Amino acid sequence: MKTYFVTGGAGFIGSNFIKYIIDKHQDIKIVCLDKLTYAGNLANIEEELNNYPDRLTFIKGDINNQELVEYIFDTWEINYIVNFAAESHVDRSIEDAEVFLKTNVLGVQNLLNIAKDKWDLGEREYRNDVRFLQVSTDEVYGSLGKRGYFTEESNIQPNSPYSASKASADMLVRAYNETHNLPTIITRCSNNYGPYQFPEKLIPLMINNILNGKELPVYGDGLNVRDWLYVKDHCRAIDMVLEKGKAGGVYNIGGHNEETNIKIVKTLIKELDNLLKENEAYKEMAATKDDYINESLITFVKDRLGHDKRYAIDPSKIKKEVGWEPTIMFEDGIVDTIKWYLDNQDWLKLITSGDYKNYYEEMYLDR
Ligand SMILES: NC(=O)c1ccc[n+]([C@@H]2O[C@H](COP(=O)([O-])OP(=O)(O)OC[C@H]3O[C@@H](n4cnc5c(N)ncnc54)[C@H](O)[C@@H]3O)[C@@H](O)[C@H]2O)c1
Repeated sequence: MKTYFVTGGAGFIGSNFIKYIIDKHQDIKIVCLDKLTYAGNLANIEEELNNYPDRLTFIKGDINNQELVEYIFDTWEINYIVNFAAESHVDRSIEDAEVFLKTNVLGVQNLLNIAKDKWDLGEREYRNDVRFLQVSTDEVYGSLGKRGYFTEESNIQPNSPYSASKASADMLVRAYNETHNLPTIITRCSNNYGPYQFPEKLIPLMINNILNGKELPVYGDGLNVRDWLYVKDHCRAIDMVLEKGKAGGVYNIGGHNEETNIKIVKTLIKELDNLLKENEAYKEMAATKDDYINESLITFVKDRLGHDKRYAIDPSKIKKEVGWEPTIMFEDGIVDTIKWYLDNQDWLKLITSGDYKNYYEEMYLDR
């Protein structure tokens, strides 16, 4: 029986990962450590906490807390650390980068140090069944021109304080592998979309604004390009890399789905309008929306500072070495995503009102 130590598991990708592995591997245990910052929401894993009390343990805490992380290693026999915990929003890093360095760099260093000490068998040897997986991002590579793709060999040239902090962590992970032989893996994924994403990020923000007839702010000319991957495909990739990836390896994970921001926003408007008009399940909701779901809501705003023009991933290494490739087409994934936000209006409202903090943290403390 393997034990996964998942950090940041109450956030967007971490919670999707917990759902994925708890279902896929019936014999594993999961310890989730999450500080529950503004981005952490226990509602995201409420069902799993209720349904699998023997298999999933939640601990509220900081990855920087040495005593707490050591306690986790002393209490469970950890096989895999999967580090999702991070400050993840570029705009916030432009306002104030300090917490990004504390969590995304020093926090990772704390995890690496403790993993090394607890897993070390002496003489730079480790058990075969342990891995430290750092969840990184394609943003560490910087920006591309119109052509070309990032490979694992591309230069690291981060342009935002967020991506600089993630790149710093990648360098530390690499150094712990080189210096201490710690069996690490780095995955660098493109933009994720799907259920449970905090509504400050492009797709859930736009869905929420469209539903409320609010303006849809698009940076600059809207022509910045991102490569979009459905979150479940990302979770499956991480799970496969843990089993089949080489220690010391770096794996790019991408969706083969490049799109401009403005095209994404227009797609959301069109698909949301279609769903409301044609799907019986949303008839009641549609009745309150009048005719405002159209492109007149789009407002171009001053561009983000240092806004990277284009990211695109070459995922051929992970396909060749691990056998992973994306399975969910953007056209299907985006409709499922919009449906999820329509079906989970209470989840969205608890966040936008700010009430999710008190509600779920009290619920959890009462358990
Ligand atoms: N969202 C994307 O498109 C994307 C793409 C590539 C890589 N990533 C990376 O994936 C990871 C997860 O991203 P996400 O979008 O789910 O982020 P998120 O902001 O939704 O979730 C982050 C989680 O980490 C927790 N956390 C923050 N600081 C912590 C600390 N000091 N100690 C413990 N927990 C802490 C938060 O409470 C939250 O639950 C991040 O490392 C991010 O850099 C994200």
